[in-house]
Amino acid sequence: MIEAGRSPSLADEAFFREMEKKDIPEVDAIERGSFRNPWPTEALLFELEENAFCNSFVVEVGGRVAAYAFLWVVDEDSHLVNIAVDGKMRRAGLGGFFLRRLIMFAGECAAKRMRLEVRAGNEEAVSLYLKFGFRVTGREKSYYSDGEDALVMLLTFGEQK
Ligand SMILES: CC(C)(COP(=O)(O)OP(=O)(O)OC[C@H]1O[C@@H](n2cnc3c(N)ncnc32)[C@H](O)[C@@H]1OP(=O)(O)O)[C@@H](O)C(=O)NCCC(=O)NCCS
Repeated sequence: MIEAGRSPSLADEAFFREMEKKDIPEVDAIERGSFRNPWPTEALLFELEENAFCNSFVVEVGGRVAAYAFLWVVDEDSHLVNIAVDGKMRRAGLGGFFLRRLIMFAGECAAKRMRLEVRAGNEEAVSLYLKFGFRVTGREKSYYSDGEDALVMLLTFGEQK
């Protein structure tokens, strides 16, 4: 059973759906506001339209894109390759709402686990993943272009909190 933690005010208004091409400008803006080395727009479009293994989702609040994620699913493995919540809407339960649905989706696809890489210094995200039962299974030295290490984290389905 996954616990939601404190009262998730925005999660009550959140709507989880597949990403569409019309969402890309909003996704692009959140990506640019969230990461030091954001993916180029073409990379977002590639994942949405051309990567057959990629499942692309958004969370809408009040008709606007509040968060997005790209999730690869290959047989029993799923890989969360990108997730971000609009900087103006963080700490209101959306990240937890979204991750819970992504785990449910991957499980419905017959995946048995979810893997991800996260900057070692990204305390918000690491805390979110630990809360859901992800474990740190490795460390990739200088994984990011600025030299920061990545933590490799894994959730085995059935063990989530
Ligand atoms: C990580 C991120 C998705 C969390 O989204 P969010 O909507 O703020 O998360 P929630 O409000 O649902 O919080 C869920 C949990 O995340 C963790 N968390 C979120 N923000 C945090 C913060 N500022 N400090 C510490 N923990 C935090 C906590 O464990 C929190 O649980 P709690 O409320 O019981 O303490 C968001 O901070 C984000 O988009 N960051 C930029 C992009 C990014 O780093 N993506 C991850 C790439 S691997």
